[in-house]
Amino acid sequence: MSTPIAVQKRAEELRSQLEFHNYRYYILDDPEISDAGYDRLLRELQDLEAQYPELVSSDSPTQRVGATPLPSFGEVRHAVRMLSLENAFSDEELREFDRRVRDRLGTEQVDYAGEPKLDGLAVSLFYRGGTLVQAATRGDGVTGEDVTLNVRTIKSVPLRLSGGDLPDELEVRGEVYISHDGFRSLNEKALAAGEKPFVNPRNAAAGSLRQLNPRITAQRPLDIYCYGVGKRVGGKTATTHSGILDQLRDWRLRVYPGIRRLEGIQGCLDYFSEMAGKRDSLPFDIDGVVFKVDRLDQQAALGTIARAPRWAIARKFPAEEEQTRVTDIDVQVGRTGALTPVARLEPVFVGGVTVTNATLHNEDEVHRKDVRPGDTVIVRRAGDVIPEIVRVIPGKGVRAEPFRMPESCPVCGSAVVRAEGQAVSRCTGGLYCQAQRKEAIKHFAARRAMDIEGLGSSLVDQLVDRELVHDVADLYALTVEQLADLERMAEKSAENLIAALGKSKSTTLARFLYALGIREVGEATAQSLSQSFGTLDKLMSADRALLEAVPDVGPVVASSIVAFFAEPHNREVIAKLREREVHWPDVEVAKELPLAGKTFVLTGTLETMKRDELKARLQGLGARVSGSVSIKTDYVVAGEKPGSKYDRAKELGIEILDEKACLALLGE
Ligand code: IVH
Repeated sequence: MSTPIAVQKRAEELRSQLEFHNYRYYILDDPEISDAGYDRLLRELQDLEAQYPELVSSDSPTQRVGATPLPSFGEVRHAVRMLSLENAFSDEELREFDRRVRDRLGTEQVDYAGEPKLDGLAVSLFYRGGTLVQAATRGDGVTGEDVTLNVRTIKSVPLRLSGGDLPDELEVRGEVYISHDGFRSLNEKALAAGEKPFVNPRNAAAGSLRQLNPRITAQRPLDIYCYGVGKRVGGKTATTHSGILDQLRDWRLRVYPGIRRLEGIQGCLDYFSEMAGKRDSLPFDIDGVVFKVDRLDQQAALGTIARAPRWAIARKFPAEEEQTRVTDIDVQVGRTGALTPVARLEPVFVGGVTVTNATLHNEDEVHRKDVRPGDTVIVRRAGDVIPEIVRVIPGKGVRAEPFRMPESCPVCGSAVVRAEGQAVSRCTGGLYCQAQRKEAIKHFAARRAMDIEGLGSSLVDQLVDRELVHDVADLYALTVEQLADLERMAEKSAENLIAALGKSKSTTLARFLYALGIREVGEATAQSLSQSFGTLDKLMSADRALLEAVPDVGPVVASSIVAFFAEPHNREVIAKLREREVHWPDVEVAKELPLAGKTFVLTGTLETMKRDELKARLQGLGARVSGSVSIKTDYVVAGEKPGSKYDRAKELGIEILDEKACLALLGE
């Protein structure tokens, strides 16, 4: 039975509509129809293909769910060799690269294209007549594996190209990767299914692409960014690399929007620092920035040596993961008595700093990773995040016994308890425990709390160890003589500290509440409480119901506040602080806060204050301050060098305020 012409036409129409909506959704991130609408079209096509099997074609959107498994991958010889990149590890090496390029070309200045170096794996996509006919991994650069069936399942890979000047044959190159969100959900699923989680997004992407069963690949959150062209036959070619990328975009391939044309070496250096600043807020891993000579005639003149072109270089970031050895596992006691196992490490340079400790979070985490003294481990430090142990490298060196959480506090000897269903173990010593006392005092003195300048960590340790200070109120009875006697202190620094203590006495109710270190009461909650109650006495006598009426306060926070003020010791310390002249103005209780119900997102560096400060002030006026931009965002406040949140806000058409406009909103 041959397929009626009308049916063939309808199938064709459905395919191009589906391909178009796929493009709107996965490439432009701007869908035109609902998911349900898409599913309806897809189902109609699936039904037609089921009824008329000869209709099925390999570039049909119905094929994205994955074909039948393969016994092994075939080989693909690349028509044009897939090159690798030379690396530069410093600005100086980048300058040398630019010097070499200029010398060879005999020009004063060369313009480059700057692009992120995605940390995934390279693929080649071969389109004939605009249809994806083959996809291959890089392999050794000459021959790769045929992963066509798997690549067809990647939603951001178009199965058909469209647009003007399409070449008859086009081999596109790009990087397949998994985003941070995709990686997280993939590993959550793996853990829930009792499977081993992936080590990092790169491994997850490689493992997913090299699956013999395309139906499994189809379930993996693979994505692609295209960054170049290999073989090409026909069509009109651009004269610059950035021009080629524009063509790829026009043909509906996914190209990173932040790729930029740069003028000379200074343009490259600036772009590198911009990307280094953005690195932590990008939704995917990058391990550097790639610079490519933009003009294609200049690329051709420079040519290629060995396995890398002379016209491109990767300026790499410092590695975020390194190998080292665990010498010991200690247990630290925090302000709320939480016991945290900490691995002591042989010093290792990672993420741009030397790391000697890594947190192991809690008992379960140590057991899950099975970290023991003597182990060789991979340590990770990304951005300002606390260094972490990613995993143990098995079979290296002599291992100690498995870690056990102590039954009594290593500092005060009180019992350690771990509540049913919770991951944290806690010392029950309360403020009897010197460790908890020290941490409580450090928190009280912190910049965002009472802001006692010069009262650092080692000073607090000495004050508690020498029994000069038992609680935070004792700080205000210290004398110059007592302080001058401490290590690393002299008359002058002691006087300065006394002056700083004096200055800190004049504070705000919100800061004071935050400084008390009530469990569950962070800065934002302290602000809300201060706005709602106006005075400390009203707050101290509030019951749970009254507390729960405050924005942001739920049953857990409310009970924690009630319990804190019910404790006679806490009331005594507060009374003593007031006797020693710690004071604040009463807060006028607003009926309705001016920014209630508004959501703000902050990005970039502000001129007149820290971002945290602005955040606290906005929250004080009832605003919600969120970490990411969505359609629910009302305002994005953008300082200097804003990050991707700024781009996102523009995309979504959200009102963007500069610092001045925001201060005006705050009534300044
Ligand atoms: S261009 C002509 N551009 O880095 C040079 N590569 O070390 C060929 N990569 O195998 C590569 N992002 O897997 C190029 N924007 C980018 C890239 C990029 C990531 C990877 C790619 C390549 C490796 C070379």
